Amino acid sequence: MSDNQATLTADGQTVDMPVRSGTIGPDVVDIRKLYAQTGLFTYDPGFTSTASCDSAITYIDGDEGVLLHRGYPIGQLAEQSSFMEVCYLLLNGELPSAAELTKFSTTISRHTMVHEQLSSFFSGFRRDAHPMAIMCGVVGALSAFYHDSTDIADAEQRRISAHRLIAKMPTIAAMAFKYSVGQPFVYPRNDLSYAGNFLRMTFGVPAEEYEVVPAVEKAMDRIFILHADHEQNASTSTVRLAGSSGANPFACVAAGIACLWGPAHVGANEAALNMLKEIGTPDKIPEYIARAKDKNDPFRLMGFGHRVYKNYDPRATVMQKTVREVFDALNVNDPLFETALELEHIALNDPYFVDKKLFPNVDFYSGIILSAIGFPTTMFTVLFALARTVGWVAQWNEMISDPGQKIGRPRQLYTGPAERDYIPVSNR
Ligand code: CMC
Repeated sequence: MSDNQATLTADGQTVDMPVRSGTIGPDVVDIRKLYAQTGLFTYDPGFTSTASCDSAITYIDGDEGVLLHRGYPIGQLAEQSSFMEVCYLLLNGELPSAAELTKFSTTISRHTMVHEQLSSFFSGFRRDAHPMAIMCGVVGALSAFYHDSTDIADAEQRRISAHRLIAKMPTIAAMAFKYSVGQPFVYPRNDLSYAGNFLRMTFGVPAEEYEVVPAVEKAMDRIFILHADHEQNASTSTVRLAGSSGANPFACVAAGIACLWGPAHVGANEAALNMLKEIGTPDKIPEYIARAKDKNDPFRLMGFGHRVYKNYDPRATVMQKTVREVFDALNVNDPLFETALELEHIALNDPYFVDKKLFPNVDFYSGIILSAIGFPTTMFTVLFALARTVGWVAQWNEMISDPGQKIGRPRQLYTGPAERDYIPVSNR
């Protein structure tokens, strides 16, 4: 391979392909002309070696445990910024000025109500429906209500639909929760912060005023920041692929929610919490560590390991710190946290986990925080979807704004029968 091109020899043909460099991160071999020049496709199920797009939004270095949004490290954003600011950054590429932030936050708070008729969708669901099932349906239905922001060729309509999605997601998520517990929906309040408003809509009741606990509000905001975007993960790629056909953003985000729901994507936060409950006390940890290492036992340490991070997930660092803050604010002390800390300590000193580069991921501590705040485990994935919405719409908008954008259409290695003649059923 030369500095700026790669050479492939196959079937007696040699082709040169450009090698492109990004700002940081691995170079990519541009294979777009490969089929036209050779009649060959590349084969990469799971996209383990394939860059599917250009993107200027999020960068991950899994070996170093680095996550940057528009160049800013996630740790700095989580510690010093706010979710509204991060939303603005992801959508627009730069941090807002004070005036821009105020305007943006005001715009979002003015879009938090949903069309009143949307409320009647909920009664069509069983009370015991998983809130993610409700989210898929209701968010998809938004495209039936906001026709004035579904023309994807209009940049202004794209901007409005992004604001609507970010603003309405907490309202819909809280409604899904309220429906499951049989309580009345709580309308949004524009004087509260994004996180405070969501907490009140979730845990408040009309019978008495809900007081937002500032430390919990801050923790919630931080959790939203930690989940805001994560490069071309499965649900983001789903949103992009759905959007590549020209589908409207509400439909695309509903597709993202459906993908996110799968247990291989998120859901590990729930599994990690259940695992910690099962382990219970630190004296049981060695037994579970041994099981995790046993090739004949399917058990894995949940909240450990990551496809991309081969180092400490930078989001887990912030999560761990946030646990203490929430415990202090709520005056709780869940002993599972001590068990989690001890489990991490033992695993990180065990050659099995060290050699395989298995570190705590974002899901290891998040379940402890969310359950301390009062969320049932079924809401964990919903919170993830709420926070990830900004990433989905930012990535979708980036794709639509790209003049070279094409419909996503992978090819395949066909392994079915070759052509054969139809035989009428009477002769079979
Ligand atoms: N406990 C014990 N062993 C593990 C674990 C674990 N949590 N994770 C990976 N391994 C072992 C695995 O058995 C394999 O061993 P060997 O090479 O001897 O066969 C090796 O480490 C590599 O594992 P892999 O499954 O090939 O790696 P992957 O990149 O395909 O999978 C993973 C990554 C996240 C699916 C996996 O680490 C896992 O199952 N972790 C537990 C579930 C979890 O916490 N998922 C949340 C991911 S973070 C969410 C997000 O960012 O959205």
